Amino acid sequence: MRVGIDFGTTHTVVALVDRGNYPVVSFDGVDAWPSLVAANTAGELRFGVDAAAVRHEPGWSVLRSIKRLLNEAGPQTEVNLAGRDYRLTDLLTGFLAQLKNDLHHRSNGSLTPTEPIEAAISVPANASSAQRLLTLDAFVAAGFHVVALLNEPSAASLEYAHRYRSTITAKREYVLIYDLGGGTFDASLLKMTGHANEVVISEGIQRLGGDDFDEAILRLVLAGSQPTEMDTAARDLLKEEVAARKEAVGPQTRRFLVDMSPVDRPPFACGVDEVYSVCAPLVDPTMELLDRILHDPARDGRDVAWSEVAGIYVVGGAGGFPLVARMLRSTFGDKRVKRSPLPFAATAIGLAVFLDSEADFELSERFSRHFGVFREAEAGAGVVFDPIVCKDASLPADGRTPLVVRRTYRAAHNIGHFRFVECSRLVNGRPDGDVTPYDPVLFPFDPALRDRGDLGHQPVGRWKDGPDVEERYVVAPSGAVEVTLTTQPGGFVRTFQLQRCATAR
Ligand SMILES: Nc1ncnc2c1ncn2[C@@H]1O[C@H](COP(=O)(O)OP(=O)(O)OP(=O)(O)O)[C@@H](O)[C@H]1O
Ligand SMILES: [Mg+2]
Repeated sequence: MRVGIDFGTTHTVVALVDRGNYPVVSFDGVDAWPSLVAANTAGELRFGVDAAAVRHEPGWSVLRSIKRLLNEAGPQTEVNLAGRDYRLTDLLTGFLAQLKNDLHHRSNGSLTPTEPIEAAISVPANASSAQRLLTLDAFVAAGFHVVALLNEPSAASLEYAHRYRSTITAKREYVLIYDLGGGTFDASLLKMTGHANEVVISEGIQRLGGDDFDEAILRLVLAGSQPTEMDTAARDLLKEEVAARKEAVGPQTRRFLVDMSPVDRPPFACGVDEVYSVCAPLVDPTMELLDRILHDPARDGRDVAWSEVAGIYVVGGAGGFPLVARMLRSTFGDKRVKRSPLPFAATAIGLAVFLDSEADFELSERFSRHFGVFREAEAGAGVVFDPIVCKDASLPADGRTPLVVRRTYRAAHNIGHFRFVECSRLVNGRPDGDVTPYDPVLFPFDPALRDRGDLGHQPVGRWKDGPDVEERYVVAPSGAVEVTLTTQPGGFVRTFQLQRCATAR
């Protein structure tokens, strides 16, 4: 089964590839899987739907935005939950393993229990190398067969192209993705030429999303009373009620009603315009940011004219709030502001579209892409990307001679674990654009491990007496990459043909 998975701050959404359709998977009847991790003092962990079920129970603590922690994290980063320290990567792997389990056993996806899952996954356009690698590694460790890792706006733009292909023309090849999620706002301008799509610029507001609308509406319904007057649990319950009422607002809604029983008060009622007026100041900065993106003087010295933009595409759960499309339309006109019919699922659907019909896209464009490896830095605290063959590297012109690149260093671990990727752009030295992983390569630096057939199951540790290592990359004119690793003293040699994690059609 092929699936697109949008691992979001508040929800994780999965869309299937099903004979030209991209249905969104429901879990216990709901189209999204909560991005929640819960732990109790006894050290029990729950993830997703199971974590949501215990979130109000005494003794349980909840980690709400695990995705947010990844941007700054390294492989050793820990978080404290219910009085215990957990490695962030372990929590994320546990979370994704439960998602995989629920996909098999608790969803309407009709997956047979042993069926492998080929996944396209995504990260925010401005995600760090570390976030990309940690996300990728956790999906693989959880048992997914990761075929591609895209930027979220690139995926959303594929959903746009799938629905509104005819609007993208040679004169109008830009699409502006307006993604308002639970906790973040991202705006990205994409250039869509044929099957290629490039993020030209992506900017965001880190702490702006549907959660802030909830807070603003909560202040409105509680007007006059001090937050200190009520206990946190009651306030949380009321906030959930407010969020549910907000999500039920449609373009035709006139009245806004809130059940105030969590705080022992009579129901609250007002006109929906009053709700819009407390939320509009939150939408204003997003409009200013769109304006900046369209008129960024740093970009190739020229603006993208509004006439070159095929459409503004409104995605993300909070993009479903009618006020958002209304404010965008009053500034940019009715015609080119399009709201995804399933705003919360646009990214996941776009990932499924990518797997289905666009699979040749980018993967065939080898050395118009960067090829490199993630390496550990700062003694395990961080990750850096080392580009090995850059996009503009000139390949030998005769079509026969391979390109050869060498690297030498002293090994710092007992096992070399090489995570190779290719990507369409580097920004500040980080892989950007669409990133494609290769199968990981494992190499025994410790002579005692040379004959082990199960290197993948051996603990990887730092190692003081590591040998000297030479990596020799041979890039064939066809684009195939082979790496030969040699350690000295002793001259132990192994050659690997690099392969992609799955064969794309
Ligand atoms: N129909 C709707 N109208 C208004 N708001 C909605 C609607 N549906 C969902 N939301 C809000 O959207 C938010 C969640 O959006 P989404 O699922 O896109 O976020 P996410 O992908 O998890 O987060 P992020 O993109 O920030 O990582 C919540 O605040 C939710 O209340
Ligand atoms: Mg999202």
